[in-house]
Amino acid sequence: MLAISHLPLGEGDEDTAVYFVREKARQAPNCPDVVVADYLEAAWKLGDFKGQAGRSLIFYKQPVLAGKSGLRVIVVGIGKDKPTPELFREAGGVAVTAALGTKAQRLMIVLPEKMGGITRGDLAQALVEGVMLGAYRFAKYRNDLDPEQESGGIKSITLHTGGDSSVAGAVHLGLITASAVNGARDMVNEPGNQLTPGHFVKAGRELAKKFGLTCKVFDKSALKKMGMGGIVGVSQGSAQPPALVALEYRGQMAKAPTLLLVGKGLTFDSGGISLKPGAGMQDMKFDMSGGAVVLAVMQALAQLRPAGINVVGLVPAAENMIGPAALKPGDIISQFNGKSVEVVNTDAEGRLILADALAYGVKHYRPEVVIDIATLTGAVIVALGHHRTGLLSNDDGLAEKILAVGERCGEPLWRLPLGKEYRQQLKSEVADLRNVGQDRAAGTITAACFLQEFIGKTPWAHLDIAGTAWDFTKKSYVPKGPSGVGVRTLLELLLNWK
Ligand code: BES
Ligand code: ZN
Ligand code: ZN
Repeated sequence: MLAISHLPLGEGDEDTAVYFVREKARQAPNCPDVVVADYLEAAWKLGDFKGQAGRSLIFYKQPVLAGKSGLRVIVVGIGKDKPTPELFREAGGVAVTAALGTKAQRLMIVLPEKMGGITRGDLAQALVEGVMLGAYRFAKYRNDLDPEQESGGIKSITLHTGGDSSVAGAVHLGLITASAVNGARDMVNEPGNQLTPGHFVKAGRELAKKFGLTCKVFDKSALKKMGMGGIVGVSQGSAQPPALVALEYRGQMAKAPTLLLVGKGLTFDSGGISLKPGAGMQDMKFDMSGGAVVLAVMQALAQLRPAGINVVGLVPAAENMIGPAALKPGDIISQFNGKSVEVVNTDAEGRLILADALAYGVKHYRPEVVIDIATLTGAVIVALGHHRTGLLSNDDGLAEKILAVGERCGEPLWRLPLGKEYRQQLKSEVADLRNVGQDRAAGTITAACFLQEFIGKTPWAHLDIAGTAWDFTKKSYVPKGPSGVGVRTLLELLLNWK
């Protein structure tokens, strides 16, 4: 869908050209087209458009001026602040949103000239991401929409680099990254009856086959034998058998460190016997967002093949339902590392399936770090709203790294503390741990304290995306629905490891 063009503008088959303009610059910096420059000047004089960030303007050029057919010209403002990747991701989203309001099919995006504060490669990558992410639509089950119109009718996007081939690598990275994010969004959009734990197995195997990863699957009987009482217990009330999917990527370099990712793949969370209220329960199909992120990151890694790291992605997949065999409040289960857990609330199921996967992952792979990502607690929404992902970690260096990368990627996080005061809340009279705190206080932290019991001394970070995986803060390149949050941050973190 996206190509790089070195053709002079107007000589391709684009029906829409997109320019970016700085506030107060008065003219698109790399706009050789005098007609466009004239229009822009007029809009400026009339005060309609001054290049403010988030604003856009559409002109139409007569067929006679543009060759055979007419040409749309979309001008997008990028403001006057210091340029950042996020500014251009947003600008790409604004451009494509404007195009989606027209009958545009073939976009030619004119890459701005180098500007201070950002490399042209970073700029190109961010623009590509913004455009591809902003064009995302999920029309699969809509009979009233043309299935051809997946990206709202846009068939091709060309980036006009003015002959600068040095950005090709960055464009490629942007493309792979955006495809991974959109792939995660596709999975999250699927309803629970379509995307079952078995689907994670299928998707993992397909990924492995297509991109050359190793995929290992532990089915229900294997999970039972291995003592994974969390994954088995949570799925007991469901007709869908659970699974643990492991995807392994190996970099070429000898002695590359192994990094472990674990994503919550809860394909529907009814709450179980501790049933959730009916209102909004349909959204709990998105409780597998963390698992989708892990698959998406593994896909991108397999395409980009960084030499210096080995990465393992683990997805414990299960459905949390009510049934005659379902876990009951008060039941005691035994997790993979032998710890016993009193299940006081069956709706705190994510930590039970993650606990098994984390304990297995650190024991089996001995990773340098482990990062888990999960829609784990409603409490993180109370704390941070839908604007920041909750970050909890036992390692300051790792936490700092993730915070910085997240900021750069437009996926900001905020760190919350851990500590024995909070751990206290998980004391049980009858087991090693209870799965919820004694009261609702600090719910995101007690959930993380629970997970911490299963990673030993391994440097670890936990990303609670319950507030950001869906209804993420308003951005031009995040359409309604799943955001795919976490893919960009984890990918960039891994690609630049050490
Ligand atoms: N999947 C939910 C967390 C969640 C809640 C995600 C709202 C997105 C929006 C998780 O399994 C859950 O139900 N957590 C409980 C924990 C509680 C019982 C301690 C919660 O947050 O209410
Ligand atoms: Zn739950
Ligand atoms: Zn859940």
